[in-house]
Amino acid sequence: MHLTESNMYRSKINQLSRGFSAETKELIASLSDDELHRRLDGMITPPITLAERSDPEMLQLYYTSSYVHLMEFLNVPKDAKLFEIAAGDTIFIPKALDTHGEEGAKYVTANLNQDLTEGFRDKTAELSIEIQVIEDNGARILNYCGQGSMDVIVFHHALNDIVQTMIAQREGIDTIHSDWWSVEPQMLQAVMDYHNRGELKQAVYGEFISIIETCHQLLKEEGIIIFDNCIYAGYEKIGYSSEFHSNYIQFAREWINEADLGLQEVQVPGFDEKWWMVLQKSH
Ligand SMILES: C[S@@+](CC[C@H](N)C(=O)[O-])C[C@H]1O[C@@H](n2cnc3c(N)ncnc32)[C@H](O)[C@@H]1O
Repeated sequence: MHLTESNMYRSKINQLSRGFSAETKELIASLSDDELHRRLDGMITPPITLAERSDPEMLQLYYTSSYVHLMEFLNVPKDAKLFEIAAGDTIFIPKALDTHGEEGAKYVTANLNQDLTEGFRDKTAELSIEIQVIEDNGARILNYCGQGSMDVIVFHHALNDIVQTMIAQREGIDTIHSDWWSVEPQMLQAVMDYHNRGELKQAVYGEFISIIETCHQLLKEEGIIIFDNCIYAGYEKIGYSSEFHSNYIQFAREWINEADLGLQEVQVPGFDEKWWMVLQKSH
């Protein structure tokens, strides 16, 4: 990993750590670059367990620094236009673009859950880049942004959220006006029931591929889509299969290949393809 230009490294890490607790900042400052790399890489040993108090911030730093690294490695322009689907109140991607980007960079998200959207607005208020939040289904993004307008599209831990939301809609579970975390166990159970009955693909494939086709149209030529989906510890306790959850990237890869949409996978050294997938628009 990550942020390979050593002289730039600490200034970017410091920018990405703004707002962290004094404890985590001290921890980061006490580690050499190599130790910090090792520590961050260690965060993503699935399933992710957040045992220490500094862990959520270190996990955030793992993701934000990974995305900055990907933007550098993939030559994402400094004034990139980036669309993230289903950000919830997670601000890793806007923070990464804020660090990578310069004037003209713009971040757009489409997000359905109202409480999480409100939290997202609050948390991103201090970033320098332009932020647009669309309170609608990402499937309808072309109603708001033009074809060929985005350099990058990100699904940060969003495959599970999108599939859960599709199943919830079928099952009459309100995910827009409710507290997401209160209804999540119900959603997870419903997804598992479809999976166990062998009905999941039939239920969500069409809608899922339609979102990816829409993303394809939204991208500029040679634009990229980045997916990550790791697995957190603890879900087994509420009857959810970690094995199933660990395969989200794999099933997305299979379904997208099957649909043959004109997206080529790009290998990025250091990024495990079980948890990461980068696709490039090729025609
Ligand atoms: C728990 S948050 C997840 C945030 C982020 N992906 C993460 O894992 O850190 C889930 C969010 O995804 C949103 N969501 C799911 N499917 C969506 C879709 N098709 N379009 C827009 N938002 C969606 C939900 O409304 C909710 O706000």
